[in-house]
Amino acid sequence: MGKLDGKVAIVTGAARGIGQKIAVQFAKEGADVAVCDLKAEWLEETVGLIEAEGRKALAVGVNVAESAEVDACVKSVIEKFGKVDTMINNAGITKDGLLMRMSDEDWDAVINVNLKGTFLFTRAVARPMMKNKNADGTAAGGTIINLASVVGIMGNAGQANYTASKGGVISLTKTTAKELGSRNVRCNAIAPGFIQSKMTDVLPDDVKKSYMDSIPLKRFGTADDIAKCAVFLASDDASYITGQIISVNGGMIG
Ligand SMILES: NC(=O)c1ccc[n+]([C@@H]2O[C@H](COP(=O)([O-])OP(=O)(O)OC[C@H]3O[C@@H](n4cnc5c(N)ncnc54)[C@H](O)[C@@H]3O)[C@@H](O)[C@H]2O)c1
Repeated sequence: MGKLDGKVAIVTGAARGIGQKIAVQFAKEGADVAVCDLKAEWLEETVGLIEAEGRKALAVGVNVAESAEVDACVKSVIEKFGKVDTMINNAGITKDGLLMRMSDEDWDAVINVNLKGTFLFTRAVARPMMKNKNADGTAAGGTIINLASVVGIMGNAGQANYTASKGGVISLTKTTAKELGSRNVRCNAIAPGFIQSKMTDVLPDDVKKSYMDSIPLKRFGTADDIAKCAVFLASDDASYITGQIISVNGGMIG
């Protein structure tokens, strides 16, 4: 018996890293999963891992910052699976630099993927989730889980665009919870700390060391740590939790 038996989830940015782990962990817990990334062919490995768990997968090439592509993606998921129970807004990018030197292009690119992309998918799944019904006719609703970041809470020099996008994701999460709560649609965010991934592998060693010094648990997190939190938030175990920002950061900040 999985914690997500019978559920249908959409995971963006699922070709690798945290998104891939979330998609596979959802399949392990019994969910069918639609996986999205910039190109459908990048998702072959993730699809194979989901199918190896005995669940159905759908790979969709979509740029999360493009409204029409997002709407078409949600339509294709409903055509294949009949519904959407859980939305994981995970796709994200960085384009770091000090704000005095940051170009308009780098600002817009990060805000468009991380913040606008989260808004577009939230808007697209809201109505289908509101229509989900339990066998007795009551609102089954759905769950939306957004990937924020520890730096969206505390700020970080050199990441004006990224921290602003994640701060925006945090307040969007709280507003979504308030607007959709009466229809049993819950919305929470996970704020990871320093997670080992391709996004963080590229950081210089001295930056990695300064992060490690600030982590009470004295290890970097793993994508698995995030995926397990996402399973909990999507499951009925979290049925009275909405509008919350869950820090998964080894104790970096409270
Ligand atoms: N790795 C960390 O330490 C860390 C910490 C805090 C928050 N996060 C957040 O977690 C999420 C996943 O991070 P990760 O480390 O796995 O990143 P990653 O770079 O390994 O993976 C991100 C995925 O998103 C996809 N993507 C990028 N732009 C896209 C777009 N426009 N449309 C669709 N897909 C797109 C990429 O192709 C990639 O597959 C991000 O939102 C990130 O900001 C990561």
